[in-house]
Amino acid sequence: MIPGPTPVPERVLQALGSHPIGHRSKEFQNIVKTTTENLKWLHQTKNDVLTITGSGTAAMEAGIINFLSKGDKVICGENGKFGERWVKVAKEFGLDVITIQEEWGKPLDPDKFKEILENDNHKEIKAVILTHSETSTGIINDLETINKYILNHGKALSIIDCVTSIGACNVPTDEWALDIVASGSQKGYMIPPGLSFISVSKKAWEASKNSNLPKFYLNLKSYKKSLDNDSNPYTPAVNLMFALDESLKMMREEGLINIFKRHEQHKLAISAAVKELKLNLFAEEDSLSPAITAIKAEEFDAEIFRKTIQEKYDIQLAGGQDHLKGQIFRIGHLGYVNDKDIITAITAIGLTLYEYNLVTEVEIGNALIKAKEFLSS
Ligand SMILES: Cc1ncc(COP(=O)(O)O)c(C=O)c1O
Repeated sequence: MIPGPTPVPERVLQALGSHPIGHRSKEFQNIVKTTTENLKWLHQTKNDVLTITGSGTAAMEAGIINFLSKGDKVICGENGKFGERWVKVAKEFGLDVITIQEEWGKPLDPDKFKEILENDNHKEIKAVILTHSETSTGIINDLETINKYILNHGKALSIIDCVTSIGACNVPTDEWALDIVASGSQKGYMIPPGLSFISVSKKAWEASKNSNLPKFYLNLKSYKKSLDNDSNPYTPAVNLMFALDESLKMMREEGLINIFKRHEQHKLAISAAVKELKLNLFAEEDSLSPAITAIKAEEFDAEIFRKTIQEKYDIQLAGGQDHLKGQIFRIGHLGYVNDKDIITAITAIGLTLYEYNLVTEVEIGNALIKAKEFLSS
């Protein structure tokens, strides 16, 4: 129950264990073709969706170095660890960063984006960069509204980290006209770490013609050129591609609406249950991520709590990052997670709090009944 690497279905593990094949073979070309079609389905787009061998951060970096130039003015939203990473990457490549910051646990304020974008009379802002689902705090930022202000600006590209929102909630790339969407394999995709994905709009490809930042392995033009031939510029992680092929098939079998519904139900079940266990959510209630729930550990040390749950119940929960270490714990409910996993996690949390004398038998029962109200089973 961590937000990545997430559990991998048996079917996908079996595909992963197949003997590797040549990446220039016809057989592999077919896999690239099918996965690309299915990735477009998942991203709800006709844009190019490119697959990179590298973790999610590779797609984030590619999203910057292919479309921007040194000194370009950009806005970065920062309300957690991964927003902070955007700022670091952007500054590393010499961009002129305006940071819109919010306290960790609070969502980004769309009005702050609106104000800066509306006052940019000379259209100097080249991109707006932010994280949709902020894994470090369990917040989902209001991408739809912020994106409307980006579209009104007309010039700036949207560069979005959807690492823990793709495959968990609705990210309609074409309907919202998102330019660059980055994601990674060990999350909603239900496969091990090692692949990342980036969708690129026509507007972004146009902007790439003026980009002067250095790039070689992550030069997306090479990926696009190869993809037109159902191929890769370099040796891809062949076995992860087998796994991706299988996991995307599973996702198509379940259907996008059902996938989003399942994540929403699990989010609601957990937040309702933890309140019955007298715990407080870390993130603001109307901005809860469908991928992960962060919970305050006010009367105990979160790290010892997590260790007990791991040792006694064999359930891994995530800890707080940076200054939140020991203060919060996080329950991942992203990817291949079912109702049983949710019920088991709530039970383990309840029983551990019971041992701490922080809850009663009745409160554990109430937590499970509350959770059940939101679950399908
Ligand atoms: C929101 C978000 N962005 C980016 C990343 C970075 O991805 P990776 O660790 O795969 O490079 C993660 C990984 O946890 C994430 O959750």
